[in-house]
Amino acid sequence: MTRRINKAVFPVAGLGTRTLPATKALAKEMLTLVDRPVIQHAVEEALSAGITELIFVTAESKQIIRDHFRPNRKLEQELARRGKQELLERVKNIPPPGVACHDVIQQEPLGLGHAVLCARALVGDEPFAVLLPDDLVHHPETTCLQQMMEVYRDRNSSVVAVENVAREQVSRYGIVETAAAPDGAKRMKSIVEKPVPEDAPSTLAVVGRYIFTPSIMPLLETTPRGAGNEIQLTDAIAALLGKEDVYLCEFQGRRYDCGSILGYMKANVEYALRHETIGSEFGTYLDDLVSKLRD
Ligand code: G1P
Repeated sequence: MTRRINKAVFPVAGLGTRTLPATKALAKEMLTLVDRPVIQHAVEEALSAGITELIFVTAESKQIIRDHFRPNRKLEQELARRGKQELLERVKNIPPPGVACHDVIQQEPLGLGHAVLCARALVGDEPFAVLLPDDLVHHPETTCLQQMMEVYRDRNSSVVAVENVAREQVSRYGIVETAAAPDGAKRMKSIVEKPVPEDAPSTLAVVGRYIFTPSIMPLLETTPRGAGNEIQLTDAIAALLGKEDVYLCEFQGRRYDCGSILGYMKANVEYALRHETIGSEFGTYLDDLVSKLRD
């Protein structure tokens, strides 16, 4: 019997150097993807998978993220006064009733592993999910975290989302080596952070979605600084492999790297095309634009 996963950790303390100058004063997670900030898309994915507690590991300067997930009474009163019921409901439901938000400040930028460790007291002795909002995954029916939850329930083990990337891109990711497991599932055999292409054990890259058993936290506690002189989550996962199985989820869906300008622009165009109110008009506009550019 697997334990239910209620909590999701969102490491959001990063500087956002790849999106400067847009993110000089604005938290990169608050960049707008069509009609809501990037972080809200990631939170909605977590909620789709049954998460009821959101834990933001944030920086002192990123108050705006906490504000987005807190009630804004003044705005609510004003929308109610103007009779804007639909907008009011949308604003009030960030997050929906019954979902709790917590935040903890990561005092120093010591890496992703350190960020997850900062959430230790809030996570407690429970399995939990980690979502890096820079990586957004779209699937029309089953979100990436929902797909991972299925693997978790089947295997009662930690699960990491992976995707094949071009060999010249492996140095941007954690790269895994796989081992076959019963029923065609894939287990992780080894993992290395940002290898050079010649040394990469495969081209299977970790994207920013993880489910962990409680064993990861004590391992993070003793993980020394690794690549980039930071405490790497990848190194703690490598240590976890010595104690427990870790499974891979080769998810279905399209991933966008919203932490880079190009990835963010692609995501904006494609999320806009799928959007329920503006999608069809935006599609016509794009068709016209493309044919004009071709002429
Ligand atoms: C982090 C992880 C890396 C993972 C990547 C996914 O790297 O350290 O293992 O593949 O997220 O986006 P970062 O993008 O923070 O450099």
